[in-house]
Amino acid sequence: MHFGFKMAASMRQYLLCFAHEHVEFRLAELRAITSIFGIKAELNDPEYDQSNPFLLLRLPSDSCADKIMARTMLGRFMIEVWGQGNSWTDLRQSLKLYPEDKKAPYNVNADMSFCFRMRTLGKKLGMVEKLAIIEDLAEFLDFKGKVDLKNPEQVFHIYADYGLTPNKIPEQPYKVYFGRLIAEGQRQLEQLYSVKKRHFIGNTSMDATLSLLMANQAQLRPGLVTFDPFVGTGSLLVGSAHFGSYVMGGDININIIHGRGKTSRKGAAQYRGKDENIRANLRQYGLEHLYLDVLVSDFSCQVWREQPVFDAIITDPPYGIRESTRKIGSTKEPTVNEDQAAQHIPSKTNYHLSDIFTDLLNFSARFLRLHGRLVYWLPVCRPEYTEDQVPRHPCLSLVANSEQPLSTTIGRRLITMEKTRHIEDLMDDAAEAEIRDSFYQEHNAIREKVFGKHVREQKMKLMNKSEPR
Ligand SMILES: C[S@@+](CC[C@H](N)C(=O)[O-])C[C@H]1O[C@@H](n2cnc3c(N)ncnc32)[C@H](O)[C@@H]1O
Repeated sequence: MHFGFKMAASMRQYLLCFAHEHVEFRLAELRAITSIFGIKAELNDPEYDQSNPFLLLRLPSDSCADKIMARTMLGRFMIEVWGQGNSWTDLRQSLKLYPEDKKAPYNVNADMSFCFRMRTLGKKLGMVEKLAIIEDLAEFLDFKGKVDLKNPEQVFHIYADYGLTPNKIPEQPYKVYFGRLIAEGQRQLEQLYSVKKRHFIGNTSMDATLSLLMANQAQLRPGLVTFDPFVGTGSLLVGSAHFGSYVMGGDININIIHGRGKTSRKGAAQYRGKDENIRANLRQYGLEHLYLDVLVSDFSCQVWREQPVFDAIITDPPYGIRESTRKIGSTKEPTVNEDQAAQHIPSKTNYHLSDIFTDLLNFSARFLRLHGRLVYWLPVCRPEYTEDQVPRHPCLSLVANSEQPLSTTIGRRLITMEKTRHIEDLMDDAAEAEIRDSFYQEHNAIREKVFGKHVREQKMKLMNKSEPR
C-alpha cells in the first residue's frame, strides 16, 4: 500500500481532478498506478469520499504527478496547489501564504507566457462572470509574464466547487482551488481506441476506458505477458497492449477466434470481412508486435503445463446474458471412434457461473507468477450482493472491488486480486477456490434477475393473462 496520511516536509501539495464517471474506481486506479512506480502518495483526508471529484494529495515531486497522469483513465487534471479555501477571500489568504521561492520560477520572469483556465462543478457560470474572477485573481497575483491563450508556457487552473445537489445550488462556491497545471490524464485514449472505429468488434466488446482501466488495475507494463481466457473480440487485449504488455487469449467460440461468422456491426455486410479478427485490431493501433496468439479453447478443460507463465490475467467471463456459458461435456457416453476424433465437434453443456469463477481463481493461482494480478468482472444482483459472493482462494489476495451499477438491480464488480503465495507453499496444496454464498450456483441466477420479469410477462401475454402484481 502506498497511501499514507502523515505529512512529510518534503512533499508538495497537489489536487487531482477526476472525470465524472466510474466514481467507485477512482482510488483503486490511483493506488494501482502509484504502486507501479513506487510513488509514495499521502491523501490529505484519510476519509476522502470518492464521490468528490477533487482529491487533495501530497506527492514527492512533479515528476511523480506526471507519471500518475501518464497512466490514469479517470483523472482529468493534476495541479500543484498554490491556494485553496472555502470562499474567494479564503483563497486569497491562502495564496498569500504560498512561498515566494516556489512561485518565482513561474511568475517573476517577465518573459514567461501563461494563461488561466477556470472550471466549475455543480453550477454553470457565464463567460462574463468567469472573466471577472480570472481578472481579479490575475491582478491579485500580479503575474509579470505575457498572457498567451494558445501556447502558454504555464497554465493555471481555477476550480470552483458548488456541490452536487442540483436543487440547492449555492450563490458562492463551497470550495475553491488555484494551482499550476502539471499534466492532463489519458481521457483522449477513449477516442483513440473507440470501439466504434475498431476494425473487429462484437456485442461483447468492452469500451476503451474500462479496458485501459483494467490494464491499470493489473499494473501492466512493457515486457509482461497478459492472458484473457474468455477473449471474445479481444478488447481487453487492446487495453493491455497499449501499456506494452504482450497479449494472448482463448475462447470456446471458433468463429470469434478465426474472425468468421456474422458481424454484429450495425449497417455492415452480414458476414465478417477478411482479416476481421483480433490480430488486425492490434495492427490497427500499431500494437501487432505485442500479439502472441489466440486459441480456440474451453476454459473448463485446461491445456496448459503446470508452470506460472502469465504476469496478468484480465477477463470478462460470460454471464449467460448476451452470450451462452457453455463448456464441452455431455451426460451421454462418448460414441466417437478414435479415428474420427479430429473432425468431431464435441457437444456442449451448461457451464455454471459458480464453476466459471472458481475455475478462474484456481487457474490464476496456478498460472500467474508471484505478485501477478487477476482482474475480472463479477456480475451482481445489487440488492442481494454480499461480500461472501466474491470468490476467494488462499493464494490470491483481494486488492480492489469496485462496483459499476448497470441498473437499479444489476451491476458488475471489477475484482482485482494479487497472487501472494504459490500453491506448493500452502499447507494444503490441494486447496481450491471457494464462493461462500450460493448465489452463483443457481446456473442462470443473473439471467433470471435481468430477464425473469420480462420472460414471465411474455408467457402471461401468450396465455392472455396479465402479470399478477
Ligand atoms: C463477455 S464475453 C468476453 C468479451 C470480450 N472481453 C470481448 O472483448 O469481446 C465472454 C466470452 O467467453 C466465451 N466463452 C463462453 N464459454 C467459454 C468457455 N467454456 N471457455 C472459453 N470461452 C468461453 C464466449 O464465447 C465469449 O466470447
